[in-house]
Amino acid sequence: MACFRTRPAGWFSIILFISLFTLFCHPAGSVKHKDFKTCEQSGFCTRNRRLADSVTAQGDPYLSPYHIDPRTLKVTNGQLEAIVTKTTLTKETFTFPLLISFLDSGVARVTLNEDKRQRGQIDLRHGSTARKERYNGAAAWALTGDGLKTNANIKVATDEQGFSKVAYGPDNRYEATIRHNPFGIEFRKDGQKRVKLNDRGFLNMEHWRPKIEKPQVEGQDAQAPLTSLEEDEGTWWDETFNGNTDSKPRGPESMAMDITLFGYEHVYGLAEHASPLSLKQTRGGEGSYDQPYRMFNSDVFEYDLDSPMTLYGSIPFMQAHQKGCTTGIFWLNGAETWVDVTKSKSTANSLTMGLGGHVDTQTHWMSESGLLDVFVMMASEPADLSRLYGELTGYSQLPQSFAIGYHQSRWNYVSDEDVKDVDRKFDKHDIPYDVIWLDLEWTNGKRWFQWDEHSFPDPISMNKQLDESHRKLVILTDPHIKSEGGYNIDDELKSQNLAVKNKNGNDYDGWCWPGSSHWIDSFSPAARTWWKSLFPYDKFKGTMSNVWLWNDMNEPSVFGGPDMTMPRDNLHHDKWEHRDLHNIYGLTFHNATYHALLERKKGEILRPFVLTRSFYAGSQRLGAMWTGDNLAEWSHLQASIPMTLNQGVSGFPFAGADVGGFFGNPSKELQTRWYQAGAFYPFFRAHAHIDTRRREPYLLGEPYTPIMAQAIKLRYQLLPAWYTAFHEASVDGSPIVRAQYYVHPSDEKGFAVDDQFYVGSTGLLVKPVTAEGSTNVDIYLAPDGENYYDYFDYTIHAGVGKTVQIDAPLEKIPLLMQGGHIIPRKDRPRRSSGLMKWDPYTLIVVLGKDGKAKGSLYVDDGETFDFQQGAFIHRQFVFEPEDGLRSVDLAARKGPKTADYLKVMKDVRVERIIVVNAPGSWEGQQSVRVVEEGAKSGSTNAPLSWHAGGDGKAAWAVIRDPRVGIGRDWRIVFS
Ligand SMILES: *[C@@H]1O[C@H](CO)[C@@H](O)[C@H](O)[C@H]1NC(C)=O
Repeated sequence: MACFRTRPAGWFSIILFISLFTLFCHPAGSVKHKDFKTCEQSGFCTRNRRLADSVTAQGDPYLSPYHIDPRTLKVTNGQLEAIVTKTTLTKETFTFPLLISFLDSGVARVTLNEDKRQRGQIDLRHGSTARKERYNGAAAWALTGDGLKTNANIKVATDEQGFSKVAYGPDNRYEATIRHNPFGIEFRKDGQKRVKLNDRGFLNMEHWRPKIEKPQVEGQDAQAPLTSLEEDEGTWWDETFNGNTDSKPRGPESMAMDITLFGYEHVYGLAEHASPLSLKQTRGGEGSYDQPYRMFNSDVFEYDLDSPMTLYGSIPFMQAHQKGCTTGIFWLNGAETWVDVTKSKSTANSLTMGLGGHVDTQTHWMSESGLLDVFVMMASEPADLSRLYGELTGYSQLPQSFAIGYHQSRWNYVSDEDVKDVDRKFDKHDIPYDVIWLDLEWTNGKRWFQWDEHSFPDPISMNKQLDESHRKLVILTDPHIKSEGGYNIDDELKSQNLAVKNKNGNDYDGWCWPGSSHWIDSFSPAARTWWKSLFPYDKFKGTMSNVWLWNDMNEPSVFGGPDMTMPRDNLHHDKWEHRDLHNIYGLTFHNATYHALLERKKGEILRPFVLTRSFYAGSQRLGAMWTGDNLAEWSHLQASIPMTLNQGVSGFPFAGADVGGFFGNPSKELQTRWYQAGAFYPFFRAHAHIDTRRREPYLLGEPYTPIMAQAIKLRYQLLPAWYTAFHEASVDGSPIVRAQYYVHPSDEKGFAVDDQFYVGSTGLLVKPVTAEGSTNVDIYLAPDGENYYDYFDYTIHAGVGKTVQIDAPLEKIPLLMQGGHIIPRKDRPRRSSGLMKWDPYTLIVVLGKDGKAKGSLYVDDGETFDFQQGAFIHRQFVFEPEDGLRSVDLAARKGPKTADYLKVMKDVRVERIIVVNAPGSWEGQQSVRVVEEGAKSGSTNAPLSWHAGGDGKAAWAVIRDPRVGIGRDWRIVFS
């Protein structure tokens, strides 16, 4: 949450409160644009766009002043090294060490550093004590190392014309052509040109230079016009925005490069923006944005929709997709980054591709500081890219199973009695939920780790009541610490020297919820160790094992700070400037909390749950995110879908928006529709601003309450399918909810579709209703030759590459099942997911056109890390006309805990199988034969009932109580 609200004491605070109130609170519906920079207000963005314009005007990318000195080329162990030299207009030269790593996976990594900075041979202005190197710490935070092995078998050939060709990757099917002068790299796979770095000549490594003071000419305001050899220094030095001056002790140090993606009309990714899934153009052209996509983690509440404006988190990863191939660009940099996207119809340049009439996407990446460190990934399908990106940055956390249930939150449940009451009311109205949340008002005056003793006198009894139905509590804790002598947390932060420093090296003091605050420097190992020490149950009174965390405001948000954050010349651990790592800060705090929760009690090892608002590449390893402070408006419900899908494309799929909308009061219809959509967000949480009316689903009355309860129960019914999707994401990086292009990568008509999506690999296709008064939706079905069946009544819709209209009165969620899938469910919704642990399963077998179907199920204890030692069940269900339905073990990897886990699960069975599109030949058949591994009797029978379809609906059959174990091999024979 971000709208300022507090109860300050004393006249000074009141004045401050009033002035801050006017600063931060304003009518719902508009972001304060003037608080956030545009490209024109950002020196380096302006310089790089200007450079791009002047290069384009000259019309010759070959004037790029960067070249490789061929004598410096060296190849060792899958890496190519060289020195890139830049020659300026005044014939000065600057050198940049280049390292290209060819990874085993087929990914190429290109890193460019600055020689002088690497050696520390620069002077800092204003007496700064900041580091002199370009920031090289992003990799340690974002990368896991698993995918970084280089391939020693690359083949390198350098020719007389000044090109080095490298064959690399699996079977050497990848080729990089490195042009020496000007420097540029073209990437091909299987002979097809995909990507070119510095294609348009926008490469720009701003070398360090001293500031040369020019004498001011008396009485002359305007500067003398620049000579042709002079550069415009206007934005090089100290830069002021909104009354804050950035001292920029290293002067201009941005780095930028253009990257062309050949033949790609659609690019995705670059989370987080409230923008369509297929990214829009940002320069020129009708309907394009006039700003680049900006990535600078910021507390942008009441944000604009359909905008390239920055939001709370940044993942500088882009996927480009066309039929038959997919390419990824990962720009590993923690500083502010802007990306221009333009598209051009193919010109003579790419005629060599031999294909006519396609579109290239041209991108221009600009970062304020740091290394140029870019990964190029070439693959066939989006799923390959998810895997490659996950090998680099890690896969998403497999959360505890409660985390994928329904979360009930608001700012704020006012007391422990209030929480207990809400908890009882959910039960009274027979609505399941797993987690109730406390926003910042649980604290004693915004002092983390201290309960407000007046409102929460007995948190343990509250937690215990929740625990009786296996429910959890999540409480908010932010990285800003109230600056106050006598507050033990702040005293420790200061005395142990663990706070972020200002440019002078003193503890940085800024304004946030508690008023004057300090910020934990979670880049520092010592600070993380200290943070860990605050969470053990005997230290953090009022918490127990069902209490989990929410990290908010970790962009970090600073009220009244430049861009609502801290000054860029602040200093972190190891003397890195804040500008260098701003976008990573949120991840480091999230990481600190995650690790603290691992060690609350000796011997108790539960998977931590931590929700974060700010994030970076790699945050997926640590928990969930949500899309921040949205509005209770239909347009925000719409926007939440592409935003959630884009999180999946960007490798951080555990995502959702505040259900109901944070600011404002939703109409009952909007709230109901939002629950229906939210039941299909990977992270399903209702949340609301403190000034909104209470809106727990049981308060709305008929017909809304039962409809919302139905939506929540549908979520609980499908939890086995959701958990399986979360498992898949945790091992191969696939999105939990998947866009049309992702599931149908050959169907060009679906590439820009972003208002409907699939749940994991279940074949469940949902199209939430996001328009007021709407009672039907148009849903696009790919031309896959399959039928899609209505989830609720089995109405048949054919997948022929067209939209079909389906009815969606208020009580209905448009939800289809693609033929060919088997969906695991639990059909006995209870009060919480924990209470469903031992419940039997229902399998929905949706036969495809060929009479076959397939699906999988992943199950583990949903709490601990025992799954890493084999304590899990992973099954594939296969239906084939000849063989019937089989359960096959997919658990390739057994571990020391496998056998015990199977024993624990031995009584968990399948209680029902529903076959949709059941063959007519089953009519009249009374039973099926069931063969189970290890069963004493050879086989048993289970009753079958077949139901004719008709009236546009598919025939279906039910097998009751086949009594087969969920963890065992079995077969059901239908003839
Ligand atoms: C996250 O924090 C833990 C605990 O301090 C530390 O061991 C780990 O290295 C950190 N993660 C990264 C990526 O640095």
